[in-house]
Amino acid sequence: MADFTPEAITVSFLEKHSGRFGITWQTRSAGRPVLRYTENGDTLFEHASIVYGKAEKGAAYDAVRYKNYAETPDFKPGQQVLYQVGDESGVYSEAAILHVPEDSPNHTAFAVFTDTQDTNTVGGWWEKLLCDADKVFPQYGFIVHGGDIVETCVFPDHWSKMLSNTAAHTRSYPMAVATGNHDYWKGYLRGVDGPFYSHFHMALPPQDTDDGVYFSVERGNALILLLNSGDYNKTGGRLTDSQFEWAKRELRDSPRRWKIVIIHNPLFSPGKYGTMEWRAIPCLELRAQLSPLFSEHGADLVICGHDHMFARTYPIGADGHPQTDADTVKSDFLGRSAELFCGAAGPIHFEPACAGHQNRGIECEMTPEQRAPFREMRETGSGEVAWAAVETDENELKILFRTLDINSGKCVFESAFGIRKDG
Ligand SMILES: [Fe+2]
Repeated sequence: MADFTPEAITVSFLEKHSGRFGITWQTRSAGRPVLRYTENGDTLFEHASIVYGKAEKGAAYDAVRYKNYAETPDFKPGQQVLYQVGDESGVYSEAAILHVPEDSPNHTAFAVFTDTQDTNTVGGWWEKLLCDADKVFPQYGFIVHGGDIVETCVFPDHWSKMLSNTAAHTRSYPMAVATGNHDYWKGYLRGVDGPFYSHFHMALPPQDTDDGVYFSVERGNALILLLNSGDYNKTGGRLTDSQFEWAKRELRDSPRRWKIVIIHNPLFSPGKYGTMEWRAIPCLELRAQLSPLFSEHGADLVICGHDHMFARTYPIGADGHPQTDADTVKSDFLGRSAELFCGAAGPIHFEPACAGHQNRGIECEMTPEQRAPFREMRETGSGEVAWAAVETDENELKILFRTLDINSGKCVFESAFGIRKDG
């Protein structure tokens, strides 16, 4: 019997800069997908508008799933839209409210999570962090994810549980998600191609989506560049020429005040993927390839994932070395004193630990040279989960990183830092 029950609903920015969104969901059967939306308050959908979507064969192992997606019209910044997804036959998801983020010329605010992959609570811990973000940083407008949303991206139930346990947030806030290694390492894929893009819908620059995707979002005064370290499958570490040239054009041509890069694999990490022999090869390759690009074309912040530790660097120059003598000033951020670098020669790199249950630490003795780029680092213990607030104004980009103990709900570590630029 046909089953059009929507699972694993995601909301993505459809285009680089618009109020249009791509809403994606999975079904067991292919029908006629429908998005219906209305004003917040019209709970019976009596005045709803309808958008027909598309259903395509999805990417799942040992199961049949269809990727359903629909594209919204151009919603206004700050608008709240009540919506459901489903099928023309009358099967719909529960209603959710989409919060369309603000788009001020002098401001951006988003919450960052990474490596939520968690086969125990499947999003239960991530949801607690999202609730913490609501309290500490209520002005965030969207979610940025550093990759590895789920442990095994070809298992449909990992996605459906992860996204239903976080539905209060993940159906309401647009997400900009980087491709993680759990979306492209062949061992996880079990012969299935393209599982990442089965779960999101964006208007992508032309590219092969088998190993993940790259794209960009502009919101407020920030360009957010989501790079795909899945090129590892083709190159052993570096970005392919086509992705590199695209990234260069994006950074060089963007008029936005702040340029923020998200890439799953770190260019700097005190964890095993930044320090241990063959495991660190992609890190060193990406560092050599991208440090000149980031420095020359004005990247301010690089956020990675993968190593499940907290680390933040000094500004990194074009030669890949830390600018340890950069001036700093103090600035208030969410009631904390943030250390901001001034006159940075390149971006700071930030690894925001993880929002799932796979915490890690330093796994081999670091040489002084390996330690030198880091202004601060911290091993994350069992039962600790983390996220970060990122906010920009005209002259300051500020970050608050928070680690919670999941059992007590108490904050056990914070770091506030960022970049200041004048002129
Ligand atoms: Fe991970």
